[in-house]
Amino acid sequence: MGLFKKKSKKIPLEELVLPRHIGIVMDGNGRWAKKRGLPRMAGHSFGAEKFKKINEYCLDRNIEVVTFYAFSTENWKRSKEEVSNIMDLFVDYLHQWLDMDDSKNMKVRFLGDRSVLSPKAQELMAEVEKKSQRFKNQLNIAINYGARSEILRAFELLKGKESITEQDISDSLYTYGQPDVDLIIRTGGEKRLSNFLLWQAAYAEIYFTDVLWPDISFDDIDDALRFYSSRQRRFGGV
Ligand code: FPP
Repeated sequence: MGLFKKKSKKIPLEELVLPRHIGIVMDGNGRWAKKRGLPRMAGHSFGAEKFKKINEYCLDRNIEVVTFYAFSTENWKRSKEEVSNIMDLFVDYLHQWLDMDDSKNMKVRFLGDRSVLSPKAQELMAEVEKKSQRFKNQLNIAINYGARSEILRAFELLKGKESITEQDISDSLYTYGQPDVDLIIRTGGEKRLSNFLLWQAAYAEIYFTDVLWPDISFDDIDDALRFYSSRQRRFGGV
């Protein structure tokens, strides 16, 4: 019997069924900083570095679409200083993107209401989206994003239409034309979706880990991929 359970060998990555679309909730930056006696901002800076690394890793694994939750509609409740720090990191990243070497690039789309972001940020976002059109793999960055407002916006776009199908709603979301999210990874130990891709996640597998975002490693992502691959997805059938 299983008293001396054999240590199960990890399935090689080449044998996994990979998700087409991964969504990532990068949680735990603040706690990571606190543990080290650093200001919360340090957590976000390290978090932004990890975001770039993990994004590249997903590209190496040829994941079709990756969506990172960078800033939610609820995050405005944080101190002015913290909000402006996160926005500065975002703008820095947009500048870096424009200088980045092509092999690391993906087609970028920003999900969320950008109209309240700074004119500079909006200008850079438009430039990045335009210049990245020629790339194949998709990177979505959710910024000032909330799934409920996204769904409400879809209803507004569809107002006046006599009958509405599920496809019409999908086509009116920020993620129009993209496959639904298959796997959501949330770091930081909380087990909730926090208004992230609610419509698109109808059949998603959700992988929670206690690892704080700045500590995330490629091995952690591989564990999430193994978890995903081990699930038999039946979409409500038998
Ligand atoms: C959640 O951790 C993290 C955020 C709200 C901000 C995420 C932002 C970045 C990783 C950097 C900017 C992004 C880009 C795209 C360059 P938390 O602060 O809620 O952590 P806590 O739960 O430990 O307090």
